[in-house]
Amino acid sequence: MKKTIALLLIQATVCFADDAALGRAKADAACALCHGVNGIASMPSAPNLAGQQAIYLSEQLKNYRSGKRHHEVMGVIAKPLTDNEINQLAAWYSSMKVTVEAP
Ligand code: HEC
Repeated sequence: MKKTIALLLIQATVCFADDAALGRAKADAACALCHGVNGIASMPSAPNLAGQQAIYLSEQLKNYRSGKRHHEVMGVIAKPLTDNEINQLAAWYSSMKVTVEAP
């Protein structure tokens, strides 16, 4: 039983790593222009995505896609994304490590 759980955990980690790698390729092509290659926004009006929770990221992308969250640019970008692609993009940005320093 313990072995099964350990195996499942390893598989889940491997899947997540695969998702992140696939998400990276998509993000480099479609998101980096505004959100930065490292998830730190290169455009002043775009938010940083690096290290954000995967659940939050995928929820926001689904909200843009459905129109529940309205934004002219993100609405167009999220429209063609599949649930799978959204999970991969969320895995990629959430896998980034960020450190914070208080001023
Ligand atoms: C042309 C610039 C641009 C591109 C390209 C772009 N975004 Fe955005 N993104 C924005 C802006 C601007 C916002 C803030 C929108 C708002 O106010 O709701 C945003 C918001 C977001 C948010 C919400 C973040 C939060 O903190 O709530 C997510 C998630 C996101 N983008 C993901 C992506 C992903 C994934 C891609 C690539 C598939 C992408 N974006 C491509 C400009 C862009």
